[in-house]
Amino acid sequence: EDITVASSGCRVLVDVFHDNNKDYLVVFGSQTGTAEEYAKKFSKELKTKFGLNVMCVDIDNYDFDTLNQLPTGTFVSFFISTYGEGDFPDTAVGLDTFLSSADPESLNKLKFTIFGLGNSTYEFFNGASKRALKGLVDAGATHIGKFGMADDGFGTTDEDYLSWKDEILDILKAEGDFKVTNSKWKPSFILQKLNELNDKVSLGEPSLQYLPSSKLPTTSEGIQTGPFDLSYPYVAPIVKTQELFSLGNERNCVHVEIDVSKSNLKYSTGDHLGIWPSNPLEEVDKFLTAFNLESGNQVFKLKANDHTLKLPFPIVPTTIRSAVQHYLEITGPISRDLFTQLIQFAPNLDIKNTIDKLSKDKELFAKEITSKYFNLADALLELSNGKPWTKVPWEFLCESIPKLQPRYYSISSSAISEKQTIHITAIVEKSFNPINSKPILGVTTNLLHNIEVEQNNSQDNLITHYDLDGPRGLYSNYKLPVYVRKSTFRLPTNPSTPVIMIGPGTGVAPFRGFIRERVAMLKNEPNIKFGKQLLFYGSRNEDDYLYKNEWPKYSESLGNTFEMIVCHSRLPGSKKVYVQDKLNENRQEVLKLLDAGAFIYICGDAKHMARDVNKVLTDILQSKGMNEEEATNVLKTFRTSGRYQEDVW
Ligand code: 2AM
Repeated sequence: EDITVASSGCRVLVDVFHDNNKDYLVVFGSQTGTAEEYAKKFSKELKTKFGLNVMCVDIDNYDFDTLNQLPTGTFVSFFISTYGEGDFPDTAVGLDTFLSSADPESLNKLKFTIFGLGNSTYEFFNGASKRALKGLVDAGATHIGKFGMADDGFGTTDEDYLSWKDEILDILKAEGDFKVTNSKWKPSFILQKLNELNDKVSLGEPSLQYLPSSKLPTTSEGIQTGPFDLSYPYVAPIVKTQELFSLGNERNCVHVEIDVSKSNLKYSTGDHLGIWPSNPLEEVDKFLTAFNLESGNQVFKLKANDHTLKLPFPIVPTTIRSAVQHYLEITGPISRDLFTQLIQFAPNLDIKNTIDKLSKDKELFAKEITSKYFNLADALLELSNGKPWTKVPWEFLCESIPKLQPRYYSISSSAISEKQTIHITAIVEKSFNPINSKPILGVTTNLLHNIEVEQNNSQDNLITHYDLDGPRGLYSNYKLPVYVRKSTFRLPTNPSTPVIMIGPGTGVAPFRGFIRERVAMLKNEPNIKFGKQLLFYGSRNEDDYLYKNEWPKYSESLGNTFEMIVCHSRLPGSKKVYVQDKLNENRQEVLKLLDAGAFIYICGDAKHMARDVNKVLTDILQSKGMNEEEATNVLKTFRTSGRYQEDVW
């Protein structure tokens, strides 16, 4: 039972709390793993600082009706992320339901802190944590300290957490009368002796024999059955890749077709595909060097210290190398908090002092570490002049380094026309370090790009720094762990409702899916009558015009119900034109369609584009005699009724 969830499966919160002699509860509701990471950090802090025996759990794994029966004086810390339109994470919907129907005094013994994770570029900033806070207070619980709100929109999540945490720990110390023990780090996971006979070693392949029996697929005719989700991806072959454009060595865009025919994985047009990347070999090697882990070929097996902990890797025993390559987020920015914890393992006094200074000084840390785009191995090797850090226990790394999380892509195919494959469209993330000009590469999109290069021009020896013969298959024959995340981005149910789609750049991805869907519908049902389908698309120029050859074919099928309005922002000798300029230019048409009940869809950049588009739409509505407030409210109402849908990032 020590394979995935170490818990006994008991959902009664109080029972598990007592059985494991816990004295503090941390609860997280996480969509993409961030809330989980922070909940774990906070738990670790409580353990080392106050010597508490913290129970840190996923909201999804417990029922809440015993929340008010925790021993008097027990504190509960909630970490809740917001997702979509101010929604709770899928795993925390139960908490939302529980709180919204809780009786006024039903949580009157509960003392809690709450930290929300959100993104202010979205409409309902920290909507879920705000609702949880209100629900808890309405049920009579006592809120301790400040309501923490992290803002990923400005990339300040880490610093938001740190400043909240410092304050909250002081308050908890006073309120809970905790003694500062500052104990040394104690592992949550213990290395186990291998059983040579029974232990099968995984090399990172999410293979079936390691799954808990509840997840075991019932295969008939080789079809792998789900449900595929965050904890159980489908490992899918890639059938086709194509470079949509390649501009120098700097800007590339790939089209990837993922084969789901050997699974019962289903999707709806407009959904997202979650993809788990693997780290490039050179980063894996650097990490192994930095921590003196040699080749990384040592096999290890972990056991959780108590029944409330979940193992950090779905598959053990495995090799250190596989864990680093497939499960740890090693190329991302470093948190200042992790730096603080590394002090205890510094190779010498000098480095200890430097780290101490860096970890206490937010500005210095930003200047010396963050702005240099260092990842953990870069930073540590820089501090030690390239010498390995030999004192960091592997178990510490296992529990302290964030786990690789899936990246989400808007699906660019239609579930009606592409039942067996899922298409995605992705710009290859690549920028250059302003200090040393080294490339900064997005893990997933560069992996996809390398696969594309290998599949289409294997003579092209461009990039070889992934493990071509790794357990996930040859590059030319690569398998990618994926799952479908449901979205609410949907065409109107009535085909005659007009649709206005706005998607510059790769924001056009789901609209390609929408349009292919409509073409397929028409093929199945030739008499179907569509309302106007107006697509606003923008690119820099003709070179990065996505799927340029496909659109005329769609027009041919759909006739004049489909219209595409295209603009370019970097045509030599012309001024910048953006999709919102085109919206503005076509305001009469837009108003006419809105009067006819049109649905508005926006996909792409959240920070600028979606906001600018919203502003122009507000403006357009005002030309009907509304004032700004009224126009804003109309769009808000559209949002809540599903007539204004965003898929933005
Ligand atoms: P750019 O040349 O200024 O980068 C796809 O990326 C297209 O979206 C590009 O033409 C890009 O223009 C454009 N774009 C950039 N910022 C935008 C914004 N705030 N609103 C609309 N389009 C934008």
